[in-house]
Amino acid sequence: MLQKVVRSTVIDAPIERVWAVLRDFNSHDQWHSAIAESRIEGNERSDQVGCVRSFTLKDGNRIREQLLTLDDTQHKSTYCIVEATLPLQRYVATVTLKPVTDGNRTFWHWESTFATPPGMEHELRETVAQGVYETGFDNLRQHLLRGSDMQAGRGGAMPTALPAPTRRVVLTLYGGPEELRAENAEAAPPRAGEVRIQQRAIGINYLDVYLRRGWVPQMLPVSASSPGVLGMEAAGGVIDVGPNVSGFLAGDRVAYLGPMPGAYCGVRSVPAEWVVSLPAAVDDEMAAALLLKGITADYLLHDLGRVQRGTRLLVHAAAGGVGLLVCHWARRLGATVIGTVSSDAKARIARDHGCEHVIVTRDYRFADAVQHLCGGADVVIDGLGDAAHDENLAALARRGHWISLGQASGPLTPLPPDALVAKSLSFSRPVVFDYVSTQAQLAERARRVWKALADGDILPPPIERFSLDAAAQAHTRLESRATTGALILVP
Ligand SMILES: NC(=O)c1ccc[n+]([C@@H]2O[C@H](COP(=O)([O-])OP(=O)(O)OC[C@H]3O[C@@H](n4cnc5c(N)ncnc54)[C@H](OP(=O)(O)O)[C@@H]3O)[C@@H](O)[C@H]2O)c1
Repeated sequence: MLQKVVRSTVIDAPIERVWAVLRDFNSHDQWHSAIAESRIEGNERSDQVGCVRSFTLKDGNRIREQLLTLDDTQHKSTYCIVEATLPLQRYVATVTLKPVTDGNRTFWHWESTFATPPGMEHELRETVAQGVYETGFDNLRQHLLRGSDMQAGRGGAMPTALPAPTRRVVLTLYGGPEELRAENAEAAPPRAGEVRIQQRAIGINYLDVYLRRGWVPQMLPVSASSPGVLGMEAAGGVIDVGPNVSGFLAGDRVAYLGPMPGAYCGVRSVPAEWVVSLPAAVDDEMAAALLLKGITADYLLHDLGRVQRGTRLLVHAAAGGVGLLVCHWARRLGATVIGTVSSDAKARIARDHGCEHVIVTRDYRFADAVQHLCGGADVVIDGLGDAAHDENLAALARRGHWISLGQASGPLTPLPPDALVAKSLSFSRPVVFDYVSTQAQLAERARRVWKALADGDILPPPIERFSLDAAAQAHTRLESRATTGALILVP
C-alpha cells in the first residue's frame, strides 16, 4: 500500500524569497541539516525539469532525485527518487507555496507518496515527516534569518549601512572615450527602497556612447564639480538593502536595468524596482550581456514589430549586441531575416545566429539588395540613424514599419510625415525603459529572456570583456565597428 506524508507550515518571509531558494533543486545542501553534499548530474541547470540531483545524507545514505515539474507561476515543484540506499520506493513529492493573505508570509505545503518494504511503514513515514519535512521547515527559517541578520549587521560578515569603498568611471566633460576616467570613490548605503549591489559585470550599450558625447544631456548632466557616471545595467550580488525592501537578501544573485545612468562602478545602490533575481543557469557576465539587449529584442519582435512566420525583417548591425539576438529570435519565429553588417567576418557570425541573407556594406547601401531579395521589408530594425535614412525608406515594403531605435551613425534628420505617405509606412522611436517601467514588467521581460536563452530562441552571444578601468578602450572599440555581440566591464 502507498504511504502518504503531508506537512505544512508558515514561513515568515515573502513568497519570492522562499521560492528563490526552493526552486533551485540543488540548494538543499545549503539549508537542510540532513544533507551533507549535493550536486546536479551532467552539467544540467539546477532548475531544469528532468535534472537529477545526487546527494549524500549526513547518516551516509545516498539518494538520486529527479525534478519532474517546476512552475514559477504556481510556485510548485514535483520530484521523485530515482535511486536510493534507503528503502523508499516509488517516492514522489510535491512542494507548493502560497502567499499568506495577512502579511508578507508564505504558506508551504510539502507532501509525498511512497511504498516501503513490509514492516517499515511507520519508521519511514516518521523519517520523511520529521527528518525531512519538519526539520526542513525549521532549517529554511534559520537559513532565511541568517540572510536577514547579515543585512541588519547582526553577526554576519557582510558590510552594514556604511559607505563602501569602490572604483568608478567618471565623465566631467562630454566628448570622446578619452574623457572617461577611473577613480576611487565611496558607494553610499542603500536608502529606503534601495538595494546595494556588489557589481561583478556591467553591460555596455551604445546608449552609453550617446551619453558620453552629450547627445542626451538631460539624462546625464555633467560638469567638473558634478561628474556623471555612465551605464544602465549590471549584475552581481546583494550587499544589503534599505528599509521597505522585500524580496532581496544579502548574498542574492541579481541583475538590474534602469533609466538613470550610473552603472560604471564596483558598488551601486539602485531602486529595488530595477532589480531582478538571477536564475542559477545565467551567470553574471551573461546577465550583463543580455538583460537590456535581450529585453530590447523581445519588445522589438513581439510588441512593436509583431514579427511572425513570413515577416520580412531587415536588421541593421546584425552582428552587434542587439542584432544577433534579434536575428536568431526572429528566425525562430519564422521570419525571413535580412541583415546588414560592415565586414565578411561579421557576416559569418550573423549567419550563425539565424540571419538568412546578409548584406555586407560599410556605407549604408542596402535598399536595392533588400528589394531584390524579398520585394521590400515589412519591418526594419534600425540602430544606424541618419546615414541609413533614405535607404530605409527605399527598402521598406508597402505598409512597412521603420523602427528607429538608435543612431550609431549620427542623429536622425527629422522625418516629415509626408515621407511615410507614399507607401503607407509607419515609424516608431521606442526606448527600452518604457517597456520595463514597473518591477512586474521588468521581472516578466527578464523571465522571457532567460527562457528564450534556455529554449534556444536566442544564443549566448560572444562577450568581449574589459576591466572597469579600461572603459575608455571599450568605448573606442565599440565605436570602431569592430565588435560582435556584447561588451561588458568587469570591476
Ligand atoms: N531604443 C532602445 O530601446 C535601444 C535599446 C538597446 C539598443 N539600442 C540601439 O540599438 C543599436 C545597437 O546597440 P548595441 O548596444 O547592440 O550596439 P552594437 O550593435 O553592438 O554596435 C553598434 C553597431 O552599429 C554599427 N554601426 C554602423 N555605423 C556605425 C558608426 N558610424 N559608428 C559606430 N557603429 C556603427 C556597427 O555595426 P556594422 O559595422 O556591422 O554596421 C556597430 O557594430 C544602437 O543604435 C543602440 O543605441 C536601442
